[in-house]
Amino acid sequence: MAVQKNLRITEQLEAWVNDNKGHAVLGTTAQYIPALGKVDPGKLGICMIDEDGNYYCAGDTDVEFTLQSISKALTFVALSHHYGLEFVLERVDVEPTGEAFNSIVPFEIHRPNKPFNPFINAGAITISSLLPGQNAQKKFAYLKGFLEELLGHPLEIDKEVYDSEWATSHRNRALAYYLKEAKFLELEVEEALDIYISQCSIKVSVKDLALLGLILAYDGYNPITKVKHFSEEIAQVTKVLMVTCGMYNSSGNFAAHVGIPAKSGVSGGIMGAVPPKLHSQTYEFRAGAGIGVYGPAIDVQGNSAAGTMMLRQISKEWDLSIF
Ligand code: DON
Repeated sequence: MAVQKNLRITEQLEAWVNDNKGHAVLGTTAQYIPALGKVDPGKLGICMIDEDGNYYCAGDTDVEFTLQSISKALTFVALSHHYGLEFVLERVDVEPTGEAFNSIVPFEIHRPNKPFNPFINAGAITISSLLPGQNAQKKFAYLKGFLEELLGHPLEIDKEVYDSEWATSHRNRALAYYLKEAKFLELEVEEALDIYISQCSIKVSVKDLALLGLILAYDGYNPITKVKHFSEEIAQVTKVLMVTCGMYNSSGNFAAHVGIPAKSGVSGGIMGAVPPKLHSQTYEFRAGAGIGVYGPAIDVQGNSAAGTMMLRQISKEWDLSIF
C-alpha cells in the first residue's frame, strides 16, 4: 500500500516536472554571481516529504546548490530562537517593500528606524550581524550548528560560490555601509558580509529544503523525530514573512496562484511549508508537507521560473493553498 502510494505520487511529480521543465526559458541563471551564472539552467527537481518522513522526489534531485536567500528565513528563526522574537522585531520590521531584494531605495528614501523586513538584503545582513557570538566566525558557527540540528547532518559551504559572491558583492557592501551608518549592524561591514555570504553559500539538496519546510509547516516541530526545535510563535511569524515577502515582488501572485508559504533563492531553490489541511477534499498531503524545489533559471524577481510554474500546478491539483 505504502509502496503504491509512493509510486503514484512520484509518478505524478515526474509528469509535472516534465510539463514545467520548458518554463526555464522564462528565466536565466543568476549572472551577477559568476559561479551561479554558469550552472545548467535547464535542471528542474522537486522533493516533498510527508509527516511520516516519506520522501517523494522527481526530476533533478541529486544536484547540490546553495541556500542563497532561503537562508534569510532560517537566520531569522535562529536569531529569534536564541534572543526571542521581541528582540528581533525591535530591530527588523515585517513589512514588504515593493522594491528589489537588494535595493537601497527604501532605506535611503524612508530612512526607517529599522530595515523593512528580514528577507531583503538590508534586513538579512542586519540579522546576520546580530547572531549570538563574539565575532563573525562564532556567529556563523551558531547558525550552522542550528541548521545541522534541524537537518540531522553536517553542512558545508560551497567555497567557489562564496568566493564568487565575495568578489562581486559591491551592492551588498554599499548596503552594509548604509546599515553601519544607521547603527543597525553589530559588527564591522566586512564581518557582517562574511556571515551573510557564508550563509548564502551553504550547500543543500531539495531533500534538505523539504525537511526544513516540513518543520516550519509543523510550527517548529519535527513530526518524524518528535523534536520541537523552535516555538510556534517564531514559526508563525516566519510563515507570515514567507507569504508576504518570501518570493519578493512576486509574493502577491505566488500567494494567489500557489498559496504556500515559501522562500526562494537566486540559486533557484524554493522551500515550501504546507501546513496540515484536514478538511481538504483531495487525497494527497492532507496532513501537510515540506517542499524543496530546484530550478536555477530565475525570473526578474529572483525566483525559479520553472519551479514557480510547477508549484502553481501542484498546488492547484492537490489543493495545497492555505487560503
Ligand atoms: O545577496 C545576494 O544577492 C544573494 N546572495 C542572495 C539573493 C537571493 O537569493 C535573492 N533571492 N531570490
